Amino acid sequence: MSRVVYVNGSYRPYHNAAVHVEDRGFQFADGVYEVIAIIDGRLVDEEGHLVRLERNLDELRIDHPMSRAALRVVFAETIRRNRVRHGSLYVQITRGAARREFPFPEAIRPTLVAIARSLDWAKVAANAAKGVAAITAPDLRWARCDIKSVGLLPAALAKQAAKEAGAYEAWLVDEAGLVTEGSSSNAWIVTRDGVLVTRQLDRAILSGITRSAILALAEAEGLRVEQRGFTPEEVFAAREAFVSSTTSFVMPITSLDGRPIGNGAPGLLAGKLRLLYEAYAGSQAAGALPSAPYLAP
Ligand code: PDD
Repeated sequence: MSRVVYVNGSYRPYHNAAVHVEDRGFQFADGVYEVIAIIDGRLVDEEGHLVRLERNLDELRIDHPMSRAALRVVFAETIRRNRVRHGSLYVQITRGAARREFPFPEAIRPTLVAIARSLDWAKVAANAAKGVAAITAPDLRWARCDIKSVGLLPAALAKQAAKEAGAYEAWLVDEAGLVTEGSSSNAWIVTRDGVLVTRQLDRAILSGITRSAILALAEAEGLRVEQRGFTPEEVFAAREAFVSSTTSFVMPITSLDGRPIGNGAPGLLAGKLRLLYEAYAGSQAAGALPSAPYLAP
């Protein structure tokens, strides 16, 4: 339950927190967002998320609404006022509100919204213990998926298709027949030879902060990693598959389009990476470890 929302300089009751009808986020999807995990009242990998947020603003030439230090204060205060111990923080910044015209309006202030809400990490872990299903869907998104834009309609359509198929996630397939990523997560497989594979960073995927943390954990474990695209056929032949994201951590995928992956149960390596990631995230939020970096494409 979210009680209070930060909107442009004030904390408002959830039910009357609003932005202007001519906000460019509403009319043009002219904005970016972040979702950051909250563990024990503290943010996981806050620095990595802030670096990505600022880079995305710069790519779209949207003014920074405030300094990084000031954003940290707003985030902490939003979490505190909502008494969230475990959950996620949603942050959205748009170019601002102005009379509707396609080019950038002059001298407008960006809109900043922050919403903290509780999330039951035990429920997420229960899902992970069982494993979840995925489907494939065509990747209908734009050519700058490295920007975490609020233009999420193709992702919402793919997620709805997954939901209607009883699946957790949709793996998006590009015109070359390669899986790019999930509709709101990064995609991974473990080959028969035990190699961890996830798509290389380019403009076709979002550089996930969880992905970045997992790559560091995999390296510390001495795992073999390849960053390249893979086809659905490779997924069917793989030993394991999983997704990574702020709200899923490491989530084993046990079937794709109704066909079992590996032996149809959550994979051993995915299980191990999930445990490592959970320990990492808890320590990171507590300030015992540096933030996973944002890896620029
Ligand atoms: N989604 N790819 C896409 C398209 C995403 O939307 C996300 C995150 C990720 C994983 O990024 P990260 O590890 O930094 O969360 C990859 C968030 C959780 C969302 O839209 O709710």
